[in-house]
Amino acid sequence: MNRVTLILAFTALPAVAGEPDALALERLVRQDCGSCHGLTLKGGLGPDIRPAALSHYKTDTLKAVILDGIPGTPMPPWRPLLSDSEAGWIAEYLLTGESP
Ligand code: HEC
Repeated sequence: MNRVTLILAFTALPAVAGEPDALALERLVRQDCGSCHGLTLKGGLGPDIRPAALSHYKTDTLKAVILDGIPGTPMPPWRPLLSDSEAGWIAEYLLTGESP
């Protein structure tokens, strides 16, 4: 590998600017997810999605539920609004109860 290839390989890594915006996502979870799952996420129209209630989920499975929703239920797919990494951030946030 020459020097140019090396530089290109490094610039292909995710840029800091492309990382999920924690504040905006936290707000989205409280407001948008909260409109169905309750302001404190302990349940409403949708079930409790606090960490203890989701402990059987792996991060990737939870991310898929967020991106694709649960067909046949009011749980909508968020793919049109969230990137893969943003959904991953939310999955981690829901599982741990903290900003990842
Ligand atoms: C329009 C209402 C609505 C909104 C908005 C909504 N959900 Fe849901 N969600 C539901 C319902 C209803 C279910 C239960 C579906 C079922 O019967 O399995 C659900 C299920 C889930 C589950 C599966 C829970 C479990 O115990 O398996 C997760 C995780 C979840 N929602 C996360 C989210 C997240 C994260 C957001 C915001 C990005 C969100 N939901 C927004 C209605 C909603």
